[in-house]
Amino acid sequence: MAVAISLVQSTLFSKPSIFLRRNALKGFSFSIPFSSSSAQKTQSHKWRQPVVSVLELGGVKIGKDDVVRDDPTNNVPDEIFSKLGMQLHRRDQHPIGILKNAIYDYFDANYSNKFDKFDNLCPIVSTKENFDDVLVPPDHISRSYNDTYYIDPQTVLRCHTSAHQAELLRRGHTHFLVTGDVYRRDSIDSTHYPVFHQMEGVRVFLPGDWEASGMDGTSYAAEDLKKCLEGLARHLFGDVEMRWIDTYFPFTNPSFELEIYFQEKWLEVLGCGVTEQEILKKSGKTDNVAWAFGLGLERLAMVLFGIPDIRLFWSTDERFTSQFSKGQLGVKFKPFSKYPPCYKDMSFWINESFTENNLCEVVRGVAGDLVEEVQLIDNFTNKKGMTSQCYRIAYRSMERSLTDEEINELQWNVREQVQSKLKVVLR
Ligand code: DAH
Repeated sequence: MAVAISLVQSTLFSKPSIFLRRNALKGFSFSIPFSSSSAQKTQSHKWRQPVVSVLELGGVKIGKDDVVRDDPTNNVPDEIFSKLGMQLHRRDQHPIGILKNAIYDYFDANYSNKFDKFDNLCPIVSTKENFDDVLVPPDHISRSYNDTYYIDPQTVLRCHTSAHQAELLRRGHTHFLVTGDVYRRDSIDSTHYPVFHQMEGVRVFLPGDWEASGMDGTSYAAEDLKKCLEGLARHLFGDVEMRWIDTYFPFTNPSFELEIYFQEKWLEVLGCGVTEQEILKKSGKTDNVAWAFGLGLERLAMVLFGIPDIRLFWSTDERFTSQFSKGQLGVKFKPFSKYPPCYKDMSFWINESFTENNLCEVVRGVAGDLVEEVQLIDNFTNKKGMTSQCYRIAYRSMERSLTDEEINELQWNVREQVQSKLKVVLR
């Protein structure tokens, strides 16, 4: 469940701090190893991508054992490992790659190729890079095992591309874009998937840039940022109405969100702001001012291409992949067919360490991309203080009709694994 829910995840950081969610901390001590060696992982799942055992990510060789381990400090399941190295953002014929290239075009045209572009940085980063370097407070919800994939207590799968800001500033880059796959534990519905793609932008100013304007550095950067991003929104969406919302991010002050009015709704496009001075100072840039932004590519691609379900981005079905071509932004997706969903309910008595994200991980571990939504439909506490919850699971394939038999087997496996891994009592 995202902290502040809007469309497609990207709002995890827009709350000041602390564990707003019940049980968020519990994930630490009670985290469940979902790793490969557990005996139940032997069934064949035809719809999954093959799991490669050695990968090269941004010049780093990664073995499966480096990422997935049967150890309580590791919560990376096989399904997540299998997404490493897929890099949808580097495919020129894929909606995510097409959108990335369209944003590159905007920056190249308006800043005469001044922005350095990174789209192959390793997604395995330290907690220092992912959190400390961008001033995420020690008690922030995003640091919990319930929200982030930990490889070990000091290493995570990046949960945002902001993880690379400090390092690139330290290396002396002053204008840059970072695109990459990011990973978050979350609930399941048509706009949330545990792997998605973000683009980060940073621009650094020198005192000479703002002094002549008569403005202070912060106001100058904020104004420049807004102009730049309004131009980007017009480049992608055409002549749309826009509004700026004041918000909070740990890494920027002031912080804003840009919304556009598109298809009769206000749509959150991105988060941004003037970089906290401390980040610049630590990167050896004491006299500078900078702006930064981060945007979720799936969120934008879903509306630009009319893609109704976030799982489709991962589809290898030719009826999906053949609809997109290099450089063609916003060609509307034609659904090839809508197969019927099948709903199954399950109720259980939860325990102290139960979280919806843990439940969703187990369900995805069994059903993969055949699960469309997991929704809490009933919740009550009895006189003895025991809490029962009922979840409705929607199974639906994007590519074919599922048989009753297949769904019953999935549901049976889900029930069994929810019981054994989450230690809840089924009703
Ligand atoms: N990292 C933020 C997120 O994932 C997005 C973001 C917001 C990035 C503001 C930024 C920024 O660089 O300035 O929710």
